[in-house]
Amino acid sequence: MNRVCILGISGKLGQYMIGHALERGYQVQGVCRPESMGKLARWGDRIRVFPGRTDDRKVVAEALKGCDGVLTVLVPWGVKGYATGTAKAVLDLADPGARLVFSCGWHISRDGLDRYPLSLRLQMLVIPPIVKLLRVADIGDQERAAATIFASNRDWTVVRGSDLEEGPSEGLPLWSAHVGDPVLASNRTRRTDFALFMVAALTDPSLIRQAPAIVSRAAPSTRNRPGS
Ligand SMILES: NC(=O)c1ccc[n+]([C@@H]2O[C@H](COP(=O)([O-])OP(=O)(O)OC[C@H]3O[C@@H](n4cnc5c(N)ncnc54)[C@H](OP(=O)(O)O)[C@@H]3O)[C@@H](O)[C@H]2O)c1
Repeated sequence: MNRVCILGISGKLGQYMIGHALERGYQVQGVCRPESMGKLARWGDRIRVFPGRTDDRKVVAEALKGCDGVLTVLVPWGVKGYATGTAKAVLDLADPGARLVFSCGWHISRDGLDRYPLSLRLQMLVIPPIVKLLRVADIGDQERAAATIFASNRDWTVVRGSDLEEGPSEGLPLWSAHVGDPVLASNRTRRTDFALFMVAALTDPSLIRQAPAIVSRAAPSTRNRPGS
């Protein structure tokens, strides 16, 4: 792995991925909405940024040239198919043989065999229609984007994050193919470690065409201790 492109590089997950990728000695470039360029100032000339939306095929084609790894923050903002347009652009335009790693949440299911906690089932009943009605986001768009990736024969990984929290790294997250596995019981991932998993997936062939659901390593009893 030499050069990686991060689509959605200016977000919280994107910036953690910059740090992990630079630490591994990769050349880092990425796509960021023009209005968010200022968020990347601290990285200076250590990264190369292509201003644009991640579903803009012209910008994405330019940004992906020469990259052997692509890290995509898949987000369902708006109601115009942003996530699906982003996923299709990456699948169509990345260099042949590039490793493609996408982020999303637990709510995405590859095979329908995930067993969700009641709280998440309720959230998924209530939130999607409200955010779509308000034209803020379309969760169905993220589901269609994931279905497009799952149907692709490229070297993809879809990393499914649990509830996210800030805080120092607890190491590479644990993962399972299905939500409901006891290993995922905490339903909490440090955002920096979500990014660590995404970057590590680039060079882990065992994750090709997998949709790992992840959690951080600390035991729930440690997390819930006052002051921890
Ligand atoms: N938040 C959670 O609890 C959670 C839980 C599980 C999984 N995930 C997954 O984790 C990933 C990162 O999520 P995050 O919540 O941590 O957010 P984040 O890293 O801050 O990323 C948000 C991304 O969305 C972009 N964005 C924001 N508003 C937009 C708009 N109106 N139109 C287009 N793009 C817009 C941001 O770009 P700008 O920098 O230009 O604003 C940024 O690239 C996502 O794939 C999400 O599905 C999140």
